Amino acid sequence: MHRILTIFGTRPEAIKLAPVIKRLESCSDLSSEVCVTAQHRQMLDQVLDIFGIEPDYDLDIMRPNQDLFDVTAMALSKLKSVIEQSRPNLVLVQGDTTTTLVASLAAFYLKVPVAHIEAGLRTYDKYSPFPEEVNRRVATIIADLNFAPTRWAKANLLREGVSKDKIFVTGNTVIDALYHVLNIIKSAKVRDSLEAKFNFLRTGRKIVLITGHRRESFGEGFRNICKAIRKLAETLPAYDFVYPVHLNPNVRSPVEDILGKNRLHNLHLTEPVEYVSFAYLMKESYLILTDSGGIQEEAITLGKPVLIMRNTTERPEGIEAGAVKLVGNKQGNIFSKCNELLTNESEYSKMVNKENPYGDGKAAERIIDILRQRMPLVKKYESSTHITVYPTVSDGDGRHAKQPRIGTQTCGEPAKSISHAQPT
Ligand code: UD1
Ligand code: UDP
Repeated sequence: MHRILTIFGTRPEAIKLAPVIKRLESCSDLSSEVCVTAQHRQMLDQVLDIFGIEPDYDLDIMRPNQDLFDVTAMALSKLKSVIEQSRPNLVLVQGDTTTTLVASLAAFYLKVPVAHIEAGLRTYDKYSPFPEEVNRRVATIIADLNFAPTRWAKANLLREGVSKDKIFVTGNTVIDALYHVLNIIKSAKVRDSLEAKFNFLRTGRKIVLITGHRRESFGEGFRNICKAIRKLAETLPAYDFVYPVHLNPNVRSPVEDILGKNRLHNLHLTEPVEYVSFAYLMKESYLILTDSGGIQEEAITLGKPVLIMRNTTERPEGIEAGAVKLVGNKQGNIFSKCNELLTNESEYSKMVNKENPYGDGKAAERIIDILRQRMPLVKKYESSTHITVYPTVSDGDGRHAKQPRIGTQTCGEPAKSISHAQPT
């Protein structure tokens, strides 16, 4: 049986990989193992809990205020033994984090084929987003299979010389994940508990939801962002501003300094919330102010306008659709663009309920179908003196002890024509 080792480390990777992992687990003809670097800890565990994912390997590398060298070195050295123990036929990675880069590199060093989900997003500015643009490009160089979320992402890969038979347009798995949690929210019991949890918002006022964490804004950029948020909350008391604050100390320090002192009645700072709660907040919001990648994709799915506090985006589709605007990280521009949308109904209505370019909620299904078709063809690499070659492994060979899978079932027949699956 072909073994797939999925490696991830942060909140967004976990959310976007959860639909794929859950499907893989139900396949009788593919064997799935999960390794988390735990580059994030609490924010990762929140997602693992929601989706009921129990990692087979947990590297637990997160340290307070870690830098890129810490994450890269720790994850790379620990992944060697995980891949040697798991002996996968394929390593699956997602997105653009340092874990994505390092997992691709570790698999490459051990000559294990790599499949990359969410391939092909680009700004072509190597410092923005930093370090994600380069992480994603390195993953492309290494990947044997590329799952591009959109046709635009596929076109980037083709332009860079990636062979057409290695690229599949699948839609973004974040839409699958979002639909899953939106279904959870439909339950009256869950909704009641969310309303109780966020009862401070039950004022009838409109909500502006805020997140921020990009490294290229750290320092002055982040202070500017916080000053703009403070001015907005002061100028528009009829709105509630809700900001679940990322755990990175480079974010928390300016937020506490500029927004945490002399608290405004309509500015609600919270800890990062788990995904069901966050989906509820997005659904209830009027406008979203963020620098997040994933939220750009989710917001348009929910019909919500987004202002992106960045100078570039590797997701131009939302801008083309008219649901998203780039407002940079300067105080004046963030304030004026946000203030305009909140005070000018006709400008606001131009950005609402735009067509979602990121997928139809079936990306994971397409990815699994392609993997099932392609796994028998995945190239086996030749042995050399220092490279481990992985023959087909049988279970019970004394390697890592795995939990038995309960209720294993077939995940269905492969789709008939998927070589260039397109989101509808
Ligand atoms: C990381 C990714 C970024 C991704 C983001 C999603 C890299 C270089 N950065 O950025 O691409 O968009 O995650 O949120 O891969 N922390 C905690 N608990 C947590 C998570 C973080 O305390 O659960 C704190 C720790 O002090 C940690 C710090 O945040 O050292 C930074 O975490 P890190 O993963 O290095 O960077 P992010 O800014 O989270
Ligand atoms: N998210 C969450 N709780 C929060 C903030 C965000 O569950 O408090 C989710 C959000 O819905 C999206 C993902 O986390 O799916 C985005 O993570 P982040 O912005 O940290 O990373 P990025 O997408 O920018 O890489």
